[in-house]
Amino acid sequence: MSATGLQKELHVLHVVGARPNFMKAAPVIRALSGRPGIRQSIVHTGQHYDEGMSAVFFRELSIPQPDVNLEVGSGSHAVQTAEIMKHFEPVLLERKPDLVLVYGDVNSTVAAALVCAKRLVPVGHVEAGLRSFDRTMPEEINRLLTDQMADLLFTPSEDGDANLAREGVAAEKIHFVGNVMIDTVCASLPAAEGRWPVRGLKATLGSRNNVDDVIAAAKAFGFVTLHRPSNVDDPDFLLRFMATMDKVSEALPLVFTVHPRTRERLTQIGYTPTGEGMLLVEPTGYLDSLVLQSKATVVVTDSGGLQEETTYLGTPCLTVRENTERPVTVSLGTNTLVGQDLKLLARAISEVLAGSAKSGQAPPLWDGKAAERIADVVEEWGGQQ
Ligand code: UD1
Repeated sequence: MSATGLQKELHVLHVVGARPNFMKAAPVIRALSGRPGIRQSIVHTGQHYDEGMSAVFFRELSIPQPDVNLEVGSGSHAVQTAEIMKHFEPVLLERKPDLVLVYGDVNSTVAAALVCAKRLVPVGHVEAGLRSFDRTMPEEINRLLTDQMADLLFTPSEDGDANLAREGVAAEKIHFVGNVMIDTVCASLPAAEGRWPVRGLKATLGSRNNVDDVIAAAKAFGFVTLHRPSNVDDPDFLLRFMATMDKVSEALPLVFTVHPRTRERLTQIGYTPTGEGMLLVEPTGYLDSLVLQSKATVVVTDSGGLQEETTYLGTPCLTVRENTERPVTVSLGTNTLVGQDLKLLARAISEVLAGSAKSGQAPPLWDGKAAERIADVVEEWGGQQ
């Protein structure tokens, strides 16, 4: 028996696939690598495949190269989920892990969990229990199903525990460990700060191309991201959103990082920036995203991760969604839901600029140590197998 209590080697296989998975898996892989008796492997589904959507995160967060890349690429939800399942099953059977860890709420998460559940391989879900209560969101379906199939459920906030209890998940499976996203923020902040002022932001969609100089010279700026289908697949809303941002950018330069889906939609509707300070750029790496959020006067987004990062950084965040699966960012943090009410959004930005920004605090266990707590649970669980 080893010092850890593990009677035999424990093989933990991580499945990642899309951008928001990488910063969640990085600290867990690091924490487990320090535990004797645990062997790890990494499967990348290939849901995201561009340099700027995947490879840059592996480099910046020092994630070991995946052992296997399933290279499934893009497709409809059914096609993408099915392709991941089809390609993951033989890998699972060949590698025979003792535990598979899945992350967040993307299609790769639910697809891998479903394969494991059918093959009776234990699954741990990192970021379990979050609920927007909006089943039109593909991620909500992924969250609900993954949590029903998981054997170990690691929650980032106590609302997650309550949601899982209500859905009948046994209490002994649920572990309130805190937020692994914040582990990565804590570990990366010094490197991110060292990149200020950011260099090399790449202009896109006909935006002016001296973005770095404009931002370095600006007294204040806003940081904007938008990629949810419910926002960008609605051409009328997207046009009105961009018009609002163009107007805001006359007073406050805006760095808008454009997700591939959003770029496609903006191209389809023939959008070109008109606002003086409207700076459209290609997706940034993790460190630039972090330092831009930390230096920004305000963040406008529909991302889940940015709602959490801004709460930790203390930057006011205006979320272009009617609901959030991360309610502590609103109740304790700096997040405000503005929905699709663009007048409210413009007014909220003016209020921030006038000095009445929402302040907040970090929620419990958002302390940089969540992954170590996950490693403790995995170790103890492994000792009981
Ligand atoms: C996925 C997640 C979403 C997450 C987002 C972060 C699901 C259901 N959704 O949405 O929760 O917030 O990732 O980005 O899993 N594309 C590229 N290059 C890439 C990847 C995608 O150009 O590397 C383009 C393709 O045209 C693709 C589109 O982006 O069709 C959307 O990609 P997809 O993975 O289907 O969903 P996301 O919108 O990125």
